[in-house]
Amino acid sequence: MKKKFIVANWKLNGNIETISNFLKCLKSKISLYLKYNTIVIAPSTIYLERVYRNIKDINIFIGAQDVDINQKGAFTGETSILMLQDIGVQYVIIGHSERRLFHNESNELVAKKFGLIKSLNLIPILCIGENEIEKKQNNTKKVIKNQLDIIFENFGEKAFINTIIAYEPIWAIGTGMAADPIYVQSIHKFIKNYINQYNTNNLENLIIQYGGSVNSKNAKGFLEQPDIDGLLIGSASLIYEEFLKILKISSDILYK
Ligand code: 13P
Repeated sequence: MKKKFIVANWKLNGNIETISNFLKCLKSKISLYLKYNTIVIAPSTIYLERVYRNIKDINIFIGAQDVDINQKGAFTGETSILMLQDIGVQYVIIGHSERRLFHNESNELVAKKFGLIKSLNLIPILCIGENEIEKKQNNTKKVIKNQLDIIFENFGEKAFINTIIAYEPIWAIGTGMAADPIYVQSIHKFIKNYINQYNTNNLENLIIQYGGSVNSKNAKGFLEQPDIDGLLIGSASLIYEEFLKILKISSDILYK
């Protein structure tokens, strides 16, 4: 059984009180779901250590929402991969469309971050996906190929070992208009075939998550698809009851 890979991306949300409450509630129920799910919580950088101290003994992992390409030095405001590693971070989200849009992050910059994370044996969660215009123009696969090719070119065929991919169509993020699970399944299959065609190791264990307006009402449709290996959840992951419902749905599917 391949566990589902469920990530809570809290983005720029939460405070000490809401985070404490969330974790208290989660800890009381989580043991039921750990058998079927790998769970990562990605709070804002400032709360990473607090979350880590709370969850490290219950086998939930923490993820950062981004990292700088520099390891140290005169880079005011940035967070180093060494610092993330130092406080127990195992996963780092990179290439999120909000970083690409609001911070002008290019495929090249994302590739640099990818290499840095892997060089320190942390695991990148590489976000890819098309915007609305690209989808309408039938360019989804082309966009995805470009986003993957730069990784292949820089890091070779082994790049995707021990890597998570998050397919997040930009038009579905934060809009309440999640993609259709059948459509997402077809894109995930395409990504797996594309990566495997270059990879002699045949990455059966490659994990591809879906993200974009996931909630407890639509999660089942995604998690039932054979190539949707998990979810990257934004706003619904801020509400403890919603997050827990999604973990239950995921566990029920695997339990069958
Ligand atoms: P929403 O679930 O709020 O649409 O956000 C998705 C996302 O961007 C997760 O990284």
